[in-house]
Amino acid sequence: MDFKLTEEQLMIQQAARDFAQTELLPGVIERDEHSKFPADAVKKMGELGFLGMMVDPKYGGAGLDSVSYVLAMEEIAKVDASAAVVMSVNNSLVCAGMEKYCSEEQKQKYLVPLAKGEVIGAFCLSEPEAGSDATSQKTTAIDMGDYYLLNGTKNWITNGSTASTYLVIAQTDVEKGHKGINAFIVEKGWAGFEIGPKEKKMGIRGSDTHSLMFTDVKVPKENRIGEDGFGFAFAMNVLNGGRIGIASQALGIAQGAYELALKYAKERKAFKTEIINHQAVAFKLADMAVNITAARMLCFKAAAEKDNGEDISISGAMAKLFASKTAMDTTIEAVQIHGGNGYVSEYHVERMMRDAKITQIYEGTSEIQKIVISRGIAK
Ligand code: CAA
Repeated sequence: MDFKLTEEQLMIQQAARDFAQTELLPGVIERDEHSKFPADAVKKMGELGFLGMMVDPKYGGAGLDSVSYVLAMEEIAKVDASAAVVMSVNNSLVCAGMEKYCSEEQKQKYLVPLAKGEVIGAFCLSEPEAGSDATSQKTTAIDMGDYYLLNGTKNWITNGSTASTYLVIAQTDVEKGHKGINAFIVEKGWAGFEIGPKEKKMGIRGSDTHSLMFTDVKVPKENRIGEDGFGFAFAMNVLNGGRIGIASQALGIAQGAYELALKYAKERKAFKTEIINHQAVAFKLADMAVNITAARMLCFKAAAEKDNGEDISISGAMAKLFASKTAMDTTIEAVQIHGGNGYVSEYHVERMMRDAKITQIYEGTSEIQKIVISRGIAK
């Protein structure tokens, strides 16, 4: 076993670090305050290849491995968790799902611009009454011969208004339960497709989250992904990989908060010494360092297994479960170490604490990860 990163992986990590420091750090507090999407930075991320990192270059991607993706995600999320979720959804839900399961025609038409970062994509599974319980889809797609008629509402969709290409999961045959679900490629601007107002969120306020409404939207038959009834398996398999992205986002948030807390603890004095010399603070930092290292190892393990073509349902869920808890615990303690300064925006850690929470909710709550893991190990 070799824990060393390759030259190429180190280069990607450094490029993402430089980008985050120069393009994302300035303005991150303001974007959070005004819920402003990092449009210019996302455009540059596309130009640098960060939006189609693992896609084969023949489809416009950077052709990198999943470990490089984890490294880049960590660096971006360390500074701006909102930009990181845009990157995560585009890479590991939209592009990865399309590259693995779409037809050649669908890839040429939709994947190439997504992987090049010319447009961004959204993954539309959650509904008002089907968040964790993904089999209970109420959005319907009725087979009308040449096309499907799509009706329903999707909730909490990342990249909701900024995306151009939407992967929409819908129920085609309710009698067949999850085997009657399909996934479709839907374009922005199609008649009957409406985008609801932007959600007002606790965290990742720079990301663009909306409800989407479909009223008699005609989806051409050739825009269905895979065989009839493949939609639920598509969503589950895509989410297995997506969880590596969110785990890496959580890892980055934790690492960012830890670095700030460590620096602060070395500088801030109380009771005649730097606060790092008080065990009450030093032990918090020690716990953070251990948990972050363990979270990173889980991310690397899941990423390496993905690159080897192994089943990553358990390892992806483990990485997400642990890294998101680490993000939450670390950011809470980072605020505590900063004391009063931790509670104001200019020190960044209060934003990170708010941002961390979503990593325990989206792409499957922590409870869902435990269902996936416990069912997996019981097999
Ligand atoms: N990988 C592959 N297949 C899976 C799977 C997995 N992780 N989990 C379940 N399946 C398969 C099962 O093997 C079964 O297959 P068969 O067709 O052979 O029967 C089928 O799916 C149904 O499985 P279950 O009977 O276990 O289904 P369930 O109703 O009990 O639910 C669940 C399973 C794991 C809880 C699933 O509903 C789930 O993952 N829910 C969470 C959904 C989620 O993550 N939503 C996030 C929305 S996306 C998002 O947040 C994006 C964003 O914007 C950031």
